[in-house]
Amino acid sequence: MSDSENTPVTIFTDPNAYADLQAWHSVAARLRKEDPVCRIEAPRFEPFWAVTRHADVIEIERQNDKFHNTIASVLQTHDQTAQMRQLGPMLKTLINMDGQEHRNYRAVTNDWFKPNNLKRNFQPRIAELARKYVDRMVELGGECDFAMDVARFYALQVIMSILGVPESDELKMLDLTQKLFGADDPDFAGGPDRRTAALAAVMDFISYFRDMTADRRAHPSGDLASTIANGTIDGKPLEDLHTFSYYVIVATAGHDTTSSTLAGGLEELIRNPDQIKLLQQNPDLIDNAVEEMIRWVTPVRHFMRFAQEDYTLRGRKIKAGDGLLMSYLSANRDEEVFEQPFRFDVQRKNAEDHLAFGVGVHFCLGATLARMELRTFFRELLPRLEQIELTGTTQYTAATFVGAPKRIPIRYKLRK
Ligand code: HEM
Repeated sequence: MSDSENTPVTIFTDPNAYADLQAWHSVAARLRKEDPVCRIEAPRFEPFWAVTRHADVIEIERQNDKFHNTIASVLQTHDQTAQMRQLGPMLKTLINMDGQEHRNYRAVTNDWFKPNNLKRNFQPRIAELARKYVDRMVELGGECDFAMDVARFYALQVIMSILGVPESDELKMLDLTQKLFGADDPDFAGGPDRRTAALAAVMDFISYFRDMTADRRAHPSGDLASTIANGTIDGKPLEDLHTFSYYVIVATAGHDTTSSTLAGGLEELIRNPDQIKLLQQNPDLIDNAVEEMIRWVTPVRHFMRFAQEDYTLRGRKIKAGDGLLMSYLSANRDEEVFEQPFRFDVQRKNAEDHLAFGVGVHFCLGATLARMELRTFFRELLPRLEQIELTGTTQYTAATFVGAPKRIPIRYKLRK
């Protein structure tokens, strides 16, 4: 899709608009300047506000009493919302909860995701997997599609190890994740009826995790599945819907997001070879480079919030009940916060001010893990990397929610 075909409506509602990011960003940059809180009226959607400035996303998300996530926290069509309200949600995860309910459910796994637990119990496994996948690049003979052959398997294996899913079931999980998150992209969707495929994937997840819960209740271990299966709120175990939803959010939110950032981050390094050299000479910069990659890629394109009362944002009158789309992708290119936002700079002083993990009470639960995973991979790859180049066109998924590179064809020389 060319810039001229993109409009403020299509960049938020048409999955294909996200497959051409340059064109997407050029419309978003115009909106930040001319209409930063923009009313979007599109045929199949309830009207909503697109919030494109960094400061405005923070203003909304920090007031979680005034702006709720609700069960419709991801943009969907009018029909999908109506169906969900009528039938009830298939899943109810943390991102669909507000207030005390959210605090209670988040508390079940909050400690598990803390840096100390992750460092002590999972850093060695993550380092082992990073080595395995850089070795795999060597085995692939100096050429591969980094997104398809390396990034998605590495991220998948990390998240599955953490959950405690055995290696033999990982491919099945990969397939299910892609059917759920890539439901708009024909390369990943499960046949012509994509929504049906996504629903079938949810059912498959539930059946898989039902067995896992029974197992972890009988034989608890240190993995995350055990923490969820044996979690309690007010002294009672979690309801089934919440238990399964917890597994699904971790399996899905923890996989595509990190693999996308890894692939998109490497792509940007290849496009800026001076920055590879810089990181090889100063490995201490890798942590900051990872923040810049997360800012750059912003794999979670948006989340929604719903106003609980009338509110004025940048002079626009938001009515109680109105939906607001927080565009993280746009906020992370906000010229008021990031100098030369379209420059990829591993030394950027305020890279960590990005909003790719959101902000406030819903701030990404897996942020520490994601950072650990990305840093560990680049710490393994960069010292062994002698040469690397792109060999073809990179491609991006067509998805309005979670997206990023799906093809990064590369040629490289690596030390064994
Ligand atoms: C680069 C990788 C990742 C990105 C960019 C990302 C992004 C996000 C964003 C934007 C949110 C919503 C924040 C908000 O509403 O303010 C979120 C929430 C969440 N993320 Fe991540 N995420 C990543 C990796 C992970 C990983 C590895 C896991 C788990 C293993 C994870 C689990 C979650 C969970 C459970 C929530 C819901 C938190 C809540 O609502 O309280 N994420 N993430």
